[in-house]
Amino acid sequence: MGTIDDVKEGLEGVVVAATRLSDVDGERGRLVVGGHDVEALVGAVPFEAVVGLLLDGRLPDAARLVAIRAGLGAARVAASGRLPSVEGALARADAMDALRGALAQLEGDEPFTVLGAVAVYTAAWARRTHGEAPLPPDPSLGHADDLLRMATGTTDEARAAALDAYLVTVADHGMNASTFTARVVASTGSDLVSAVVAAIGALKGPLHGGAPGPVLSMLDAIGAEENAVPWLEGELAARRRIMGMGHRVYRVRDPRAAVLERATLALEAAGVVTGRLVLARAVERAAEGVLRRRHPDRPLHANVEFYTAVLLDAVGLPRDLFTATFAVARTAGWCAHVAEQRRSGRLIRPASRYVGQRPDDGAAHTSSH
Ligand code: COA
Repeated sequence: MGTIDDVKEGLEGVVVAATRLSDVDGERGRLVVGGHDVEALVGAVPFEAVVGLLLDGRLPDAARLVAIRAGLGAARVAASGRLPSVEGALARADAMDALRGALAQLEGDEPFTVLGAVAVYTAAWARRTHGEAPLPPDPSLGHADDLLRMATGTTDEARAAALDAYLVTVADHGMNASTFTARVVASTGSDLVSAVVAAIGALKGPLHGGAPGPVLSMLDAIGAEENAVPWLEGELAARRRIMGMGHRVYRVRDPRAAVLERATLALEAAGVVTGRLVLARAVERAAEGVLRRRHPDRPLHANVEFYTAVLLDAVGLPRDLFTATFAVARTAGWCAHVAEQRRSGRLIRPASRYVGQRPDDGAAHTSSH
């Protein structure tokens, strides 16, 4: 058997690509997207501008912004026209399973087509699951505004701005698991739809994009601030992880948690009842304390999913739609990474260390029955 000392479990710290798209500084808690701090983008530019930033390499001028908005609007209308043909896929009980199946039927290699489809299929799944017919897109609206309207039946300025802030915040984030997945698929020369469908599969997992629904369930289970510490300690005693806490790269609080917390506060200031913000802050403090005691050497702080749960709940999206809403935003990053991989990358084909038996290994004979 070979030594496994040279195996980088989870590829932690392994640099697999040179990218101009985004940079995660885990020590200082800084996220730079296309040359801009995420804090400088959120609230200052709409999601459409970040789509331009990621796909074109620079923030769009006014004319390009109008073109992107129109392109996404047209893509939503086209996706809506395809809804009858993806009816079967959208019947799945889980939104991400539905999205994966519906997107798999897409044709073409055009980012806007994929971005429009992810938003429309996500909203249509929500309507269908709650017993209502899908609402046709309104191409004159921004992507976030229209997503909210199509998914919930209503929208308003404050809630649309909060959802837009969310989409901007999570559009890209370094070499996360789903982005790596998309780049691996693209590196083989495969098509954009295949890369995005694979990325959806990676995003679905609870260690990646599947966490915000469980965060909301945790807040519901805790119910009141005084229950937080015993509840959290019970989870750790049962060897379960606290959802929305910890990160592979960040050793400080995820900067996106602060951005989303502020966006939720802005929603409150606009008169929207956000419900769980006060409890969430108390639970975050309690979780930090409990985790510090259990893992004194491993800093574990809130990640993006913690306040994603609070914000998406406050804008009125159902919790079973949270991960698909994440996909609506992250599709921008995936599309940009696929394009970058095609331009400058090489086939991604790492190596493994074989630790099994070999034909000439004596152990093979003693252990086989
Ligand atoms: N709750 C409890 N313990 C946690 C934890 C959490 N949320 N996150 C990490 N830990 C512990 C691990 O149990 C491990 O302890 P051990 O060495 O005693 O076994 C230690 O911290 C290191 O964790 P590790 O699994 O090596 O970290 P990772 O980099 O592989 O994992 C995450 C990163 C995000 C997967 C992990 O923090 C996690 O599972 N968080 C909860 C899920 C979540 O919120 N995901 C969304 C991420 S944006």
